[in-house]
Amino acid sequence: MAMSTLATAFITRRHNCSVFHYFLVACVTDKLDGPMTQATMDHLPLFADLNARPCLIVGGGPVALRKARQLLRAGAAVTVNAPALHPGIEALLQAGRLRHAPGPFDAALIGEHFLVIAATDDPDTNARIAAASEQAMRLCNIVDDGERSSFIMPAVVDRAPVVVAVGSGGRAPMLARVLRQRLDAWLHPRTGALADWLAAWRQPLRERLPKLDQRVAFLQQLLDGPAAAHVLAGRRHAADRALETQLDGQRPQAGEAWLVGAGPGDPSLLTLRALELLQRADAVLHDALVPDAILDLARRDAERVCVGKRGGQPSTAQDAIIDEMLRRVREGQRVCRLKGGDPLVFARGGEELQALAAAGLPFEIVPGVTAASAAAAAAGIPLTHRRLAAGVSFVAGYRADDQAITDWAALARSGHTLAVYMGAGRLAEICAALRSAGLPATTPAALIARAALPEQRVYAGDIGSLGARAAAADRPALLLVGETAALAGELADGRARGDRQAAAG
Ligand SMILES: C[S@@+](CC[C@H](N)C(=O)[O-])C[C@H]1O[C@@H](n2cnc3c(N)ncnc32)[C@H](O)[C@@H]1O
Repeated sequence: MAMSTLATAFITRRHNCSVFHYFLVACVTDKLDGPMTQATMDHLPLFADLNARPCLIVGGGPVALRKARQLLRAGAAVTVNAPALHPGIEALLQAGRLRHAPGPFDAALIGEHFLVIAATDDPDTNARIAAASEQAMRLCNIVDDGERSSFIMPAVVDRAPVVVAVGSGGRAPMLARVLRQRLDAWLHPRTGALADWLAAWRQPLRERLPKLDQRVAFLQQLLDGPAAAHVLAGRRHAADRALETQLDGQRPQAGEAWLVGAGPGDPSLLTLRALELLQRADAVLHDALVPDAILDLARRDAERVCVGKRGGQPSTAQDAIIDEMLRRVREGQRVCRLKGGDPLVFARGGEELQALAAAGLPFEIVPGVTAASAAAAAAGIPLTHRRLAAGVSFVAGYRADDQAITDWAALARSGHTLAVYMGAGRLAEICAALRSAGLPATTPAALIARAALPEQRVYAGDIGSLGARAAAADRPALLLVGETAALAGELADGRARGDRQAAAG
């Protein structure tokens, strides 16, 4: 799909937040209560239609090639003025994609062109190009020289026909590039298809909803609802049907449930799909382990219901959670059932899915980073290792009905790394059980408390001593046992060295 307009929009907000926060400002503006302090705009954002318009690039090197590709993508009629051409430009010339004006810079060429890009490595030539363009009143960009340029090129996320452009007024190109990368990861790959689909419906919607405010409200609901989700999933017919349903003023018969993994607690470890669904849900039914930093990413008007359970403490009964979820979905709500870690690892997600399936209600499962993975990364402990552990076993160290469900003897023989969930409260007991099952007291072990959270702490040792050392560890915490746990110190040290080197560099 050709990009019909060349993006020249610039975001020039200035603030003192981290890059990640800036990213959220760009992407989740409806989460902000008011505008941030704004500097004067250095450049007016424009999207220029260059289709078939003559554009001049002076210079024949790799930078000129890059600019030529950008202009050609916008449909421009490109002429390259240079004595010699980079092989890439030569190839475009041979393919009839652009024209060549041989020889040194010729000021007479300027007046014939809509805009000019100076991509030579000679400052004097670039200065002459800038002066000649100014005199002829042509827009001119001098590559890497914002001061002399009358326009600058932004960093672009291309989902043609949707184009997002980010600029820093030429002050921080690297920041603009990082923001572009983040927007690129965030923006759905089929955003362009969504725009095309909306364009196809534009006229029919005008006819059926003649009042502007009526159309605006309808489109806002549409973009937040199942029709848009169908387009993004490539189901155009289903999208058309959902739009018709909305037009008929009917809510869908049943809503949807999304069983979403929130990861170990750090918002940056959420999947993109989890973030997307969190921002679309009408209601978020969440576990106690999910922190506010993640819940705050939900839609502002979404209802948040804590149905949390903590080992051993009174909590919402599982049947009540299921009833609540089914009731809401039947009423037509889109329910995000948000669970810590992965929803299918020690999370009773299976029971909730069985209930949804039995009720014939639609659902989607979004995996999350499970605590064992987060703890392993925190401590520098590989869960498997070619020579040390042929596998990993996820086991529960606690069960509400207090029955011994874990066959420690079989696990001791397995040669696996053992990832023990919900075991911190019975640490000494579990270590003793493993020793009775045949593991030597010197078997390496580590307890990782609050993995991937700011207060993360690793207690490394062996099953002979860890119970006493880590008895007072913060919760939640996960126990890793096995030869791989001996690498905790080694790899953690390596990482610390790397950090120090990075800081020094
Ligand atoms: C009911 S289970 C839920 C597991 C979750 N579904 C998952 O995939 O990580 C709760 C246990 O997960 C572990 N856990 C959860 N978050 C953790 C974290 N940030 N750090 C260490 N362990 C964690 C603890 O062992 C805790 O007792």
